[in-house]
Amino acid sequence: MAHPDSDITVSGRHLVFDGVDVAELARRVATPFFLFSSRRIHDNVRGMVDAFTRRHADTEIFYASKACSNLWFLDQVRRAGINVEVNSGGELWKALRIGFAPRQIIFNGVAKTRDEIRDAVRAGVRALMVDSVFELERIAEVAGELGVPAPVDLRVDVNVPTLTHPGLVTAHGGKAGIDLDDAPAAFAFAGAHAALDPRGLHLHVGSQITGVEPYVTALEKGLDLVDAVAGGGVRLDHLNAGGGFAIPYRDRPACEPVDYFCAALSIDDYAAAVCDVIERRRPDLKLLLEPGRSVAGNTALLVTTVENAKVKGRRDDSGRRVGDDRWLTIDAGFNTLLEHTNYRWYYRTVVASRADEPADTSFRLAGPLCDGGDVFAGDDDTVYRQFPKATAPGDVVVLFDAGAYSLEMMNPYNARPRAAAYAVEGGEVRTIRLADTLDDMIAADVGPDDGADIGHAAAGPGVAADVGPDAADVGPDAGADSRTGR
Ligand code: LLP
Repeated sequence: MAHPDSDITVSGRHLVFDGVDVAELARRVATPFFLFSSRRIHDNVRGMVDAFTRRHADTEIFYASKACSNLWFLDQVRRAGINVEVNSGGELWKALRIGFAPRQIIFNGVAKTRDEIRDAVRAGVRALMVDSVFELERIAEVAGELGVPAPVDLRVDVNVPTLTHPGLVTAHGGKAGIDLDDAPAAFAFAGAHAALDPRGLHLHVGSQITGVEPYVTALEKGLDLVDAVAGGGVRLDHLNAGGGFAIPYRDRPACEPVDYFCAALSIDDYAAAVCDVIERRRPDLKLLLEPGRSVAGNTALLVTTVENAKVKGRRDDSGRRVGDDRWLTIDAGFNTLLEHTNYRWYYRTVVASRADEPADTSFRLAGPLCDGGDVFAGDDDTVYRQFPKATAPGDVVVLFDAGAYSLEMMNPYNARPRAAAYAVEGGEVRTIRLADTLDDMIAADVGPDDGADIGHAAAGPGVAADVGPDAADVGPDAGADSRTGR
């Protein structure tokens, strides 16, 4: 397979991404913006389908739409031929709206409301992943009212240590899933209930899992459970091994020392480990997967502009100036890329307008927000980034691998409009998300003279703002070609 970054080149002084001169595009449209590559989405999907089905033919992939549920992006995934995982009523609504068939949808979530359950069962999704015994009973109740048995997978916490950021662990005594000890009884309950149709076991161990061991251990434990449950008369049709395949945010081939942002494994390595267990123990069982990051992560850049620069003294504890730091402030912070502060996520960064100059000078890189913490992590566990010495306001700074959990998590903090997104598709640049306008940012606020009275204290329904969750998404058929950047 070609190196994933083989579509990133330098032409003249500028960085070129999938044929687009990024700095030139940044001169024509406002920054910050995300720039997606359709080709990368299709390459990722093709690579994953191939890696798994080659080893275990009966594999179905459900893209975890929480990673990026922009309508254009969902449409690309659908066209690439895989299914979708949703985690809320809103994601279900988007998936149906973009044309996924109900059988192509699985419904996850750790706090499903009765309304969400009703919508999912009524729509006829493939399965609901059940997070607790309480939820199993709630689903049975709702499905009973509808008179339609609900297809369910039980999400079980098989308690395996994972190799990832602590905030991303999900099957090691955290909040998600049913305790392994309680799982046999939960399956028996589901098997005996007329309103429930137990279909599978769900085992998502976490996100950005940088080794295969957690999958192997989880699958071994999971298959023990599948066997035990079959002994009790409940025969499952599939096992869902979740998502979580790590991608390399850091460019360090050996990944030493071990850190969460470095992944030395390819999708082939994960497929080999997972399929080996399934083929050895239960080759007849269907395998489901729900990857998000490994589909979306490397498909977008975040393109920003340097808006401010300064040199400040670096001081020791006594206040003595012991050196100087060069600071650059770009126009995107944790309003645009929340995970840079939420999990101190590391994104590789390049000055796209000086891509031909040696990156030999240390800078501190900051976002535009008023928080002292809106400062990007440095290279190799330092606080510094290496950029060309002359980097200055007006230069275009690009953060790589910003396709997953980014667009999705933007917020308008400091009244900064959420950014636009564009995509390279078929050699053209098209708009896939409009930046917020100033009016968008106050669209849901109810001003002092407009406020509708909702009665006393907590009584009565609220007044819902009639604005869809993604009013700014530009769907696959509506997107205006920018025809720029070439
Ligand atoms: N399935 C379930 C049940 C999940 O909770 C997740 C992610 C996935 C699948 C997809 O995992 P992936 O293949 O993307 O690793 N905001 C965080 C990531 C949170 C992950 C949440 N769950 C971040 O930016 O790293």
